[in-house]
Amino acid sequence: MSTGLDFDEATARSLEIMYRTPDVVGQRSRVLAALALCPGERVLDVGVGPGLLAQDMALTVGQQGRVAGIDASEAMIATATRRCAEQEVCELRVADATKLPFDDGAFDAVVSTQVYEYVAQIDLALAEAARVLRPGGRLFVLDTDWDTAIWHSSDRTRMQRVLSAWEEHLHDPWLPRTLGRRLEEAGLVVHYREVIPIMNPALHRNCYSFGIMAAIAAFVGGRRGVDAEEASAWVSDLRELGERGEYFFSINRYLFGAIKLGASADASRGSA
Ligand SMILES: C[S@@+](CC[C@H](N)C(=O)[O-])C[C@H]1O[C@@H](n2cnc3c(N)ncnc32)[C@H](O)[C@@H]1O
Repeated sequence: MSTGLDFDEATARSLEIMYRTPDVVGQRSRVLAALALCPGERVLDVGVGPGLLAQDMALTVGQQGRVAGIDASEAMIATATRRCAEQEVCELRVADATKLPFDDGAFDAVVSTQVYEYVAQIDLALAEAARVLRPGGRLFVLDTDWDTAIWHSSDRTRMQRVLSAWEEHLHDPWLPRTLGRRLEEAGLVVHYREVIPIMNPALHRNCYSFGIMAAIAAFVGGRRGVDAEEASAWVSDLRELGERGEYFFSINRYLFGAIKLGASADASRGSA
């Protein structure tokens, strides 16, 4: 992965834990509600990761439906395959978002959460998602804008340095602000926008920022002038703030829905 964040087995394990916190379970519920899948529909998850969304979608589309999931990481596909082993409608395989191994118009819906921000050729990836949608099909995309991170620290300068170094784990840490235009340029009509905030007013193991803190500390050492010692001091400060009851973290994710118009398009489907 060219961003420098390896989606290997260790990352797959820590993502699984983070994505089962109530913060991310809640986010998935919002995505599923917006996607509004029906029994029998065919859906593709681009960057399926540990397969939690694919598993939920399989329960909705049922035996007559289809849930395909692709991911560039073999470790992620192995994790998702274990998770979805009992869902026969799930077909998971290694592939890149910019070269989807599916026919034109193969899906009623495509979804991608927290993936396109990692992709260098984002417009090509969005064009691919549009290609595999049938006319009238819908694409839902969720990504984070890292400028929305509010993380209390007793050293604001150090916090800014660490978050700046963390930006290197993505190709576009601010993707949501250009996503609407990019979706339209891919030939889709944006009909849905939602902000999905995460807020952690206390630090505990079962919150999103507990997990992401460890990932950030492991990533930033040696980047943009941040060394391992500074990263470790940054973690210690957050833990101390947590123990004193002074912890605060918040960030926004943005969910966009877009329709592929065409011969049999139903533009009103899923509109908010
Ligand atoms: C932060 S995880 C999100 C996983 C999943 N979508 C979720 O929300 O639970 C990002 C995922 O995108 C995958 N990914 C990154 N770049 C990709 C690309 N170019 N093509 C396909 N998958 C990619 C990674 O391997 C990883 O599984």
